[in-house]
Amino acid sequence: MAFDIEMIKEVYARFPERIAAARKAVGRPLTLTEKILYAHLTEGPASQAFKRGASYVDFQPDRVAMQDATAQMALLQFMQAGRDKVAVPSTVHCDHLIQAEVGAEKDLNKAKDKNREVYDFLASVSNKYGIGFWKPGAGIIHQVVLENYAFPGGMMIGTDSHTPNAGGLGMIAIGVGGADACDVMAGLPWELKFPKLIGVKLTGKMSGWTSAKDVILKVAGILTVKGGTGAIVEYFGDGARSLSATGKGTICNMGAEIGATTSIFGYDEKSAAYLSGTGRSDIAAMANAIAEHLTGDSEVYANPEAYFDQLIEINLSELEPHVNGPFTPDLAWPISKFAAAVKENGWPAKLDVGLIGSCTNSSYEDISRAASLAQQAVDKKLIAKSEYTITPGSEQVRFTVERDGFLDTFGKMGGVVLANACGPCIGQWARHGAEKQEKNSIITSFNRNFAKRADGNPNTHAFVASPEIVTALAIAGDLTFNPITDTLTNAEGQQVKLEEPKGLELPTKGFAVEDAGYQAPAEDGSKVNVLVDPKSDRLQLLDSFPAWEGTDLKGLKLLIKAKGKCTTDHISMAGPWLKYRGHLDNISNNMLIGAVNAFNDATNKVKNQLTGEYGEVPATQRHYKQHGIGSIVVGDENYGEGSSREHAAMEPRFLGVRAILVKSFARIHETNLKKQGMLALTFANPADYDLIHEDDVIDILGLTSFAPGKPLQIVLNHKDGSTHTITANHTYNEGQIEWFKAGAALNLIKAAAN
Ligand code: F3S
Repeated sequence: MAFDIEMIKEVYARFPERIAAARKAVGRPLTLTEKILYAHLTEGPASQAFKRGASYVDFQPDRVAMQDATAQMALLQFMQAGRDKVAVPSTVHCDHLIQAEVGAEKDLNKAKDKNREVYDFLASVSNKYGIGFWKPGAGIIHQVVLENYAFPGGMMIGTDSHTPNAGGLGMIAIGVGGADACDVMAGLPWELKFPKLIGVKLTGKMSGWTSAKDVILKVAGILTVKGGTGAIVEYFGDGARSLSATGKGTICNMGAEIGATTSIFGYDEKSAAYLSGTGRSDIAAMANAIAEHLTGDSEVYANPEAYFDQLIEINLSELEPHVNGPFTPDLAWPISKFAAAVKENGWPAKLDVGLIGSCTNSSYEDISRAASLAQQAVDKKLIAKSEYTITPGSEQVRFTVERDGFLDTFGKMGGVVLANACGPCIGQWARHGAEKQEKNSIITSFNRNFAKRADGNPNTHAFVASPEIVTALAIAGDLTFNPITDTLTNAEGQQVKLEEPKGLELPTKGFAVEDAGYQAPAEDGSKVNVLVDPKSDRLQLLDSFPAWEGTDLKGLKLLIKAKGKCTTDHISMAGPWLKYRGHLDNISNNMLIGAVNAFNDATNKVKNQLTGEYGEVPATQRHYKQHGIGSIVVGDENYGEGSSREHAAMEPRFLGVRAILVKSFARIHETNLKKQGMLALTFANPADYDLIHEDDVIDILGLTSFAPGKPLQIVLNHKDGSTHTITANHTYNEGQIEWFKAGAALNLIKAAAN
């Protein structure tokens, strides 16, 4: 990783000059977020102040990380870009395709067998283009990045929405689609609308059952799933400095659940300890030397109201453990109120499964604290009533916690250790009986709990909490159990109480690992062949999307008017579909199959305007495509929230949808649509959503003079011959309009390389 040290040295060498220039341009003290952003401008030292929430700015990220489900499409796109090598350090992490079924070893072997073709493809593309490759079983992308690559003051993009996890170590880390990753790997600047800033001041100190997870569960309750949209959340204050680096990582990770662009903590002693603990004392020493630049200016934190667009204050000394859910991560319940909520809402109180770990919560601290409860269960003769699984975030963590006896302790409690991979968190869970779709409850220390996410069962009520609370509730087997106040009956009929969890931020004997699972790329990749079998149903080389025809779009059929939540899981479901992430044609068969049709409240059942019959969304769209007819998708608020997968944009583009018209977009999805040459439009008047009828044929006017800030006109031609003309807004800037005209951003990159 010497390459990294050189890169970090260069980044840090720029800091003093660039931050001074930024302070001058902005004309006031700077937040940490501003320092890092201004230090990564493509243009060099700042010559102007950018307007938060308005200016589009070109950045030069230091690094790219990709997970295997999204890397396939990112790298298929990169292969089209005409480059010999990636321009910035990049890595691929094989974590999403491993299905949890019986336990780590068997599941991993099965996955290697099942996904061999994809792993071989990713390994060979990585080898050819100078990309570091983390093999299946090495760990989950965000944990591996935190342990190896995240550094204070750095900037990275990652093809996964929980990339912000690295903010725990003071990095601006942003989740993007594969097309953005492709740009940065090709050496192009990366564009982002300069974010707004939300400050979270943490005071006091946590104790007892409360953990870092509860900070973000509380923040999610305050800000909701949309509250962070377009903003970076910066944490500061004495309370922030008291949290471990991995605890901060958990908080930043779940910033994705409030729609935040990313979240960040400043560099402090805990960051230094974690860097040293993970074998990077050299980076800690370098960071110490410029420490003043790796935190916000003191004037900012003394008077935060003046510098942040929104400010939240949380006293950690008073913070209760929280349980959030079901079905959405922003339904926040302090544990003291949760039992009543379970009863009032009729949620199944019997807890079937408790799942700890994942990229969000599998640090040494998390595992050791959860294990302290498991040990108590054993000592106090409590038999865990729920099933219980442990997903380590990396082989390094797994190896270390096994060495220190924690996995053994979980085993005594009946816990099953799953592979170092996403597993149930991304629907890769062969959960016995899930197909019966029975109403049941599970609780996880993961981050996301949308319906069907974990096991595909829409009736699974998934709740999110800290590993400690998950473990306590799994022991009790009861969602209404409050470990702070309640007792449990043990095998001998005695009433026993769980004591507060205890753990260590870092292992006293240090981390250890035998084979971390890393494969370095070839020095010279020019001779490496990347093979894709044309008959493969998993991988398919890409063809370019066609350029815009140069006219207004008329006669578009309404494909679906989606009602309510329409996340990227609804648009391009994960679970069983993950296996087609490298095959655009095949994965397009899941397009919008989870979206609720506003006209019949059904999923995957829309009217085919050519036949008058109801059919599945992808089949209906393929029918339009065959007849050379374009279509439009209409959606509700925060359309495309959730993951960064660009399949949710590529599938409609591939199948011939021309525009997505919604009340509002989630940021990553909106950018993904633009990159793929799709029109991403919003209702100027959200109430116009109600004017869309099932048989509408729609025209989009104004494209021949498409310009930034200039709305487009939409004509709704209703079946009865009447029409409505409504206004649609967009956020395309000049460059993005060029993407639209070229048919996709990649078409422009390719043209420039030739
Ligand atoms: Fe994987 Fe779940 Fe994290 S899918 S990357 S463990 S959010």
